[in-house]
Amino acid sequence: MRLVRRVKEMQSISRRLHEEKKRVGFVPTMGSLHDGHLSLIRLARKMCDTLVVSVFVNPTQFSPSEDFTRYPRDIERDKKLCESEGTDILFAPETDDMYPEDFSTYVVEERLSLPLCGRSRPTHFRGVTTVVTKLFNIIRPTFAVFGQKDAQQAFVIERMVRDLNFDIEIVVAPIVREKDGLAMSSRNRYLSPKEREEATAIFRSLSGVKQMVRKGERKTSPLIKLIRDEIARTETGRLDYAEIVDTRTLSPVEVIEDDVLVAVAAQFGRARLIDNIIIKKDEL
Ligand code: PAF
Repeated sequence: MRLVRRVKEMQSISRRLHEEKKRVGFVPTMGSLHDGHLSLIRLARKMCDTLVVSVFVNPTQFSPSEDFTRYPRDIERDKKLCESEGTDILFAPETDDMYPEDFSTYVVEERLSLPLCGRSRPTHFRGVTTVVTKLFNIIRPTFAVFGQKDAQQAFVIERMVRDLNFDIEIVVAPIVREKDGLAMSSRNRYLSPKEREEATAIFRSLSGVKQMVRKGERKTSPLIKLIRDEIARTETGRLDYAEIVDTRTLSPVEVIEDDVLVAVAAQFGRARLIDNIIIKKDEL
């Protein structure tokens, strides 16, 4: 595995891979890798000639009050994990190489970025679309793999790729969960034992929603109430949002008639956790 730290070096490798007509798979990450990331890397590995993983904690997707400086970083461990999963190139650029001092160009998706996490993190997706565009330009992958856990991010990236005509296939990989259902996340390590235990309320509530829909419930208000009640029963959790939205528009729906995303964000101690399920029309 080759570790690449400079943008220019990565660009010259990408140019060569392009000339050699290699099928390049790309998994963008902010490092601190866990089994969720490894599942994306394994999926990408099976689909490409050359596998590039990036590790870059992107400052522009954090607001000043968020955890950018505290965000967990462990490049040595990430390096070993990437190598053991058959990564060919680990791209881990320095912040000042990605964002020179006079950096002033951003990519903004103006519709799907607004609801859900966009409401409580208004500049977050602008940072994501900007850095993903930069990474796509630097790496020029054939396809890139994103996790379903960040469902809104995946929808925003798919829209950006379509709208800006990136010639890149977006693959969305399923959520990987701990045994008790908690979705894997780098932020889980912020949880105290009590918060960790109580955070299972998120997946429990989503499973409850699925069950109610299976039994025939189609109105979203009782389903959202179920999520609210489940989080309210914890001592350490505070709900940010629980919403059921159309998967094409991310607008709230009152009655489920088509594919919907059931999305939850909740704060447990220092960790803002998100999770979701998709209910497909053919399951109704
Ligand atoms: O999902 C993430 O880890 C980040 O948002 C991404 C896509 C690597 C961009 O920084």
